[in-house]
Amino acid sequence: MKLSREQAAGRVMVALDYPDAKAAERLIEELKGIPCYMKVGMQLFYAAGPSFVESLKKRGYYVFLDVKMHDIPNTVKGGANSVTRLGVDMFNVHAAGGTAMMEAALEGVEQAMIAGGTKPSVIAVTQLTSTSQEVLNEQIGITGSVESAVLRYAELAKAAGLNGVVASPSEVVAIKEACGVAFQTVTPGIRPVGAALNDQSRIMTPSDALRQGTDFMVIGRPITASPNPRAALESIIEELTQA
Ligand code: C5P
Repeated sequence: MKLSREQAAGRVMVALDYPDAKAAERLIEELKGIPCYMKVGMQLFYAAGPSFVESLKKRGYYVFLDVKMHDIPNTVKGGANSVTRLGVDMFNVHAAGGTAMMEAALEGVEQAMIAGGTKPSVIAVTQLTSTSQEVLNEQIGITGSVESAVLRYAELAKAAGLNGVVASPSEVVAIKEACGVAFQTVTPGIRPVGAALNDQSRIMTPSDALRQGTDFMVIGRPITASPNPRAALESIIEELTQA
């Protein structure tokens, strides 16, 4: 299935990893008119707050609030209620919080929906891509491979009723096999050919990730650190329309 330019843009989540709204606004201005998804992570959200997210929504962007909630169920329910009322299109919680916590997030969403508005996708963080095999086994105390931990968390998230997971692009095929094609995958670790790896290790190009079946790709520095962010994003979109 070939993607239109608009469909391709909608699958790219630009990671607004900036210290404040002013810095983020410079990039948003550069990318003006491109219908990409915007990802607001904890660095920007803790600095710029709910009003920044509301301003992105007013400008028509889809917003993924990447704040990785992980707390007791009642607190996560409250957090989910608050971010749903903010109007985000997607947010995430840690699968490691367990079934009751993930179900509480969904309850928080439902409660907020009584007032109407957009129903966000709730997705789970499986195992952070920064976790090595050694850290998983010896520090966290989970036995087995990183991939098996990711799959178990994905299955737990699916059973709790969540909409998908954040995972590495190389895990997408196994996740879709285990949880079904409609279970969404959001993948960081995307690097166009020739882009700097930075601190990412297991990477994939945008077109390869799309072929694996990824639903959304989170891309930060290949766009934000480029001398020409708009051209960098346009080139990724073009690559996706050709894939
Ligand atoms: O700059 P880069 O493309 O590496 O940015 C990747 C984005 O995806 C960052 O915002 C990072 O926090 C996020 N992320 C990640 N690995 C995960 C989860 C989120 O790189 N497992």
